[in-house]
Amino acid sequence: MTTTVPVSGGDFRPYEVVVGRGLLAELGPRVAPLARGRTVVITDETVAGLHGKAALASLKAAGAPGRLLTVPPGEGSKSFAELERVIDRLLAFRLDRTDVVVALGGGVVGDLAGLAAALYMRGIDFVQVPTTLLAQVDSSVGGKTAIDTPRGKNLIGAFHQPRLVLADIDVLATLPARQVKSGWAEVLKHGLICDAAFFDWLAGEGAAGAKGDPAALERAVIRSVEIKSAVVGEDEKEAGRRALLNLGHTFGHAIETEVGFDEDALAHGEAVALGCCMALRYSAREGLCSAEDAARVEAVVAAAGLPTRLDQAGAFEADRLLALMAGDKKAEGGALTLILAHGVGRAFVAKGVDAAKVRTFLIAEGATG
Ligand code: GLY
Repeated sequence: MTTTVPVSGGDFRPYEVVVGRGLLAELGPRVAPLARGRTVVITDETVAGLHGKAALASLKAAGAPGRLLTVPPGEGSKSFAELERVIDRLLAFRLDRTDVVVALGGGVVGDLAGLAAALYMRGIDFVQVPTTLLAQVDSSVGGKTAIDTPRGKNLIGAFHQPRLVLADIDVLATLPARQVKSGWAEVLKHGLICDAAFFDWLAGEGAAGAKGDPAALERAVIRSVEIKSAVVGEDEKEAGRRALLNLGHTFGHAIETEVGFDEDALAHGEAVALGCCMALRYSAREGLCSAEDAARVEAVVAAAGLPTRLDQAGAFEADRLLALMAGDKKAEGGALTLILAHGVGRAFVAKGVDAAKVRTFLIAEGATG
């Protein structure tokens, strides 16, 4: 059984996110109708070893033969050098605009392959086949593609919506437990933003998903994609509402930067989980939501095995964190913009947040003054 979530609205061509089990085996029949010619599967070396052969076999059997283009695993592949190499390979393959790029992998592969597809011949079609929980619930949906530069992450990119997203729940079984938990942070984030009933489910029966239970994961992916699809449909280019998806990210991104984007020390989802707890605690401190809500979020995040307190991520200086938060690309005109909450399921964009208050808060959270 599969579930199809439509993504539509704005100026982009509508597409579908298909969520279900065993979808990788259906890659060929689902992609072939989109590709009048050939396909190129961009993936990383780890995913190629796990799923590359099956993906190519399925595409070939369906009459959309593909070639595999592998990149090294890890954030380092989101670079100008790797983008150039990928585009050069596409040119060498003589790909044309009737052909389709398939991004098979996690967020790094999706971002890099998506940007290559956006640039190649002014844009060719691409299909996202996310193989991590984080990519299934967040980065594969919504058309954000990007690479990093030494001056910051995701600063060079394009909005390029995929033609199709295939989220196969079965591939999550090959993920390390820590990566599933990390993706779970983005799932919790979606409930916190706008769906208190979903958050209640994630706190109870659904919590099994954080430990890899496929049925819970499937339901969590479907609801997350529905929420993200609705937000992206309203505000593709992040002029307003889409910024809500950054809940936990302004605190989290500053912390990740201080840790040196070392996934072994602090995975992205762990930073987001901690950032969500901090956003709720800041909201409670400012009287915007109840202390009970902030404490409940912390308990649910902790139960999922994710960090809730700053000292779990290391030692930090308040001024350095604040400078990173203010310099974050989500800040506008130097003012601090945070995603805060009036309670579970009631996040909002708070502009012009007083930096001095945030500094005091960071010190109360354990940062040094
Ligand atoms: N990951 C946030 C967004 O897609 O807008």
